[in-house]
Amino acid sequence: MRSTVNLILMGPPGAGKGTQATRLCAELKVPKISTGEILRENVRDSTKLGHAAQGHMDAGQLVPDHLIVEMAMERLDRPDTHSGFVLDGFPRTTIQAQSLADRLGEQGRAVSGALLIEVSDATIVERVAGRRVCAQCGHSYHVDYDPPRNPNRCDDDDALLIQRDDDKAEVIRRRLTVYHEQTSPLISYYGERNLLHRVDGTLSPSQVYRQIETRLAALPS
Ligand code: AP5
Repeated sequence: MRSTVNLILMGPPGAGKGTQATRLCAELKVPKISTGEILRENVRDSTKLGHAAQGHMDAGQLVPDHLIVEMAMERLDRPDTHSGFVLDGFPRTTIQAQSLADRLGEQGRAVSGALLIEVSDATIVERVAGRRVCAQCGHSYHVDYDPPRNPNRCDDDDALLIQRDDDKAEVIRRRLTVYHEQTSPLISYYGERNLLHRVDGTLSPSQVYRQIETRLAALPS
């Protein structure tokens, strides 16, 4: 597999972006940049950004572009991203995608590829209902597909596993609508730039990962 990539993982909520990003980053030894995780940390720490974001997140809406772009750019400007990165959950609007391209371009960098993990809405609703996350470290599990060793306890720190507030049935339906309305235009955006690579996200996590490896091997160096 290539050792340096500036990669975007796209797909609907619950498609498996975080699951695949974690494995990919361990393999490539590059940072995982998850805007959802950064936002949840800010909410937990009661920062100004956390206060501004929480209402949008709880309602299943996107956090406004100006807040997200500033947060993502601050992270991408750090030196650990210079040998590559995996973006999980960013960009999510055309404004965010254009801001990313502009900033990377100013720095002589560019997106290497955008991997779209495709999963139907019905599968998403079922998957997200079974997701449990560690209240302390954020590690994600699934009650059937990726259970913890001890029920309701995190394998890493033994903290309690909880359901995310935005995983409740009515909120996930809103998140899917928001995805189709505001994020799916990025499929054409990256397709037109020959950066889009599709992955079947309905297979097992390992099979999905193998597809990602194949797509990465085919990226121009
Ligand atoms: P965020 O945390 O990014 O949520 P998301 O994109 O909706 O994605 P999820 O974390 O829900 O799912 P995932 O695709 O990572 O799936 P996972 O691997 O966990 O964002 C949360 C909120 O923050 C947004 O709603 C928004 O308000 C805000 N936000 C974040 N970024 C933003 C941005 N750029 N702009 C504006 N607002 C932003 O897997 C899901 C479950 O399925 C897990 O239980 C997992 O174990 C299981 N699973 C994974 N893969 C498989 C598989 N292949 N088969 C079976 N089960 C699987």
